[in-house]
Amino acid sequence: MTNLQIFLDIATEAALAGGEVLQSYWGKLEDAITEKGRPGDLVTAADKASEEVVLAVLRRHFPQHSILAEESGKLGNQDNEYLWAIDPLDGTTNYAHQYPDFAVSIGLLINGVPQVGVIYCPFHNELFRAAAGLGATRNRRPIQVSQTTELGKSLLVTGFAYDRRETTDNNYAEFCHFTHLTQGVRRSGSAAMDLAYVACGRLDGYWERGLSPWDMTAGIILVQEAGGKVTAYDGSPIKIESGRILATNSHLHHSMSQELLHIPALSSWQ
Ligand code: IPD
Ligand code: CA
Ligand code: CA
Ligand code: CA
Repeated sequence: MTNLQIFLDIATEAALAGGEVLQSYWGKLEDAITEKGRPGDLVTAADKASEEVVLAVLRRHFPQHSILAEESGKLGNQDNEYLWAIDPLDGTTNYAHQYPDFAVSIGLLINGVPQVGVIYCPFHNELFRAAAGLGATRNRRPIQVSQTTELGKSLLVTGFAYDRRETTDNNYAEFCHFTHLTQGVRRSGSAAMDLAYVACGRLDGYWERGLSPWDMTAGIILVQEAGGKVTAYDGSPIKIESGRILATNSHLHHSMSQELLHIPALSSWQ
């Protein structure tokens, strides 16, 4: 077995364990929900408990690796060749409202490049997995991006970061623009699910700003291994630390990139 296959299998074990924790807390949070600082930026007992079990699995198998986890922050040297980016509950707002779209997202960066990704959506019983050169799967069956070639026939997805009230760079104009150009733009509330759905062809393209490495590392390798393309908005190689991502079925990449670079002011839609 190759190292990547081993990393993928252990990441799967960790994601399934995290998902089990999320299921056990479902509907039982009561007052175990707090705000992290910004209004609407929630954290729950489930986020923390899921992260604990994910970390335990990864540390047991890979004590030499470093970790970047949403709730625990930086664990170990972040320049380590092997860095796990972990979102123990992507879609916390959904989860807190008992809206069933949420996921555990576990990605492995090797020398800064996403190489392994597992996204587990417990409520939908869907397990998305990918590793560089090994393809992408949903519930162990190969998946591929969609074949849509025209924006006018596409269904896209995006999201709005928690800092949206503090900046004019809030993605509202982009959302309106693509809503006019396409068959629709969804907002799921889980960046990891958005990327998984691009990978399996349910959605044709995704863009977002204000993300963290744990939101997108696993999803990047999933989309790439499913035949899609992932870059910065302008089509240049993605910089994970920029928080911006454009992920498509590859056919729509150029047109989405061109549109993102020439977004009309929001006032033109009012
Ligand atoms: C959030 C979700 C959401 C995205 C936000 C993320 P969280 O992650 O992925 O879809 O729009 O930018 O922060 O806080 O639910 O893990
Ligand atoms: Ca997240
Ligand atoms: Ca999270
Ligand atoms: Ca969060």
